[in-house]
Amino acid sequence: MSGDRPVLFVTRRLPAAVEARAARDYAARLNPADRKLAAAEILAGAEGAAAILCCPADRLDAALIAALPASLRVIATFSVGTDHIDLAAAAARGLAVCNTPDVLSVATAEIAMLLLLAAARRAGEGERLVRAGRWSGWAPTQLVGRGVSGRRLGILGMGRIGRELAAMARGFGMEIHYRNRSRLPAALAAGAIFHEDEDTFLAASEFLSLNAPGGAGTRQWLNAARIARLPRGAVVVNTGRGTSVEDAALAAALASGHLAAAGLDVYDGEPVVFPGYLGLENVVLLPHLGSATAETRDAMGFRALDGIDAVLAGRPPEFAVA
Ligand code: DGY
Repeated sequence: MSGDRPVLFVTRRLPAAVEARAARDYAARLNPADRKLAAAEILAGAEGAAAILCCPADRLDAALIAALPASLRVIATFSVGTDHIDLAAAAARGLAVCNTPDVLSVATAEIAMLLLLAAARRAGEGERLVRAGRWSGWAPTQLVGRGVSGRRLGILGMGRIGRELAAMARGFGMEIHYRNRSRLPAALAAGAIFHEDEDTFLAASEFLSLNAPGGAGTRQWLNAARIARLPRGAVVVNTGRGTSVEDAALAAALASGHLAAAGLDVYDGEPVVFPGYLGLENVVLLPHLGSATAETRDAMGFRALDGIDAVLAGRPPEFAVA
């Protein structure tokens, strides 16, 4: 506590309105320089704190969680993803963990749709051509891509973001196929075709969008064997977690032409990007922009603070993951 207000440690710079609310309600320790903190700095910042508001780039592993101060009651992450936090270690210490689902679903689905179109229509190549001053004018055979209308889109992970993407892709005339832990009720599936069988799902996916949350269950899910079962010329996009992809296998399939193109917003080990992608023209690379709209980032911050408020007031948080 600092005065009569609990201490809240915020690991990264947040939108101004979110920081203002944090400073109004808590003795807030902010990070105005927005420097990525090492584990020792997170521990030092959390000293005496009742709450931590962290981000996906912070790694809160079991060792760090074990060393957090006894004063700590809640960790809220400025993300829907929680694969950067050892949830079992947090639960073992009796720490509540909250996240920010729903408010980022549309923004993230927009980036998936953007990548799908950009990869299929070769927008990255075109943009680089124009910027380099190498465009010699319109030509009938220049940068011919593939249309999305009438094509099948396979969605791995039909949660909130997957369903928003499905709704957008339907507007582009795509037929939606999906794989999920379980079949969705008809009202949520909205006509999307569920595949119990992985082989039929992969064979159907002329376009494949990975919307899986990451973690052990999907580690390197898109490997060489599964890529080989996609139709030749398929397009892959990933806005879930980079850990779901075996990078060397994806890069090899893009180089060989088995896959026509890919669009990636997330990377295993980001911000380091697998070097094999960098020389490939047929991959569009974005810097984890999924939730990056002003209104979404505000809403994420407010949702994280709502979780902290609830735990510190002794109420159950609405979005708790541990
Ligand atoms: C999340 O919320 O998990 C995203 O990856 C951050 O935009």
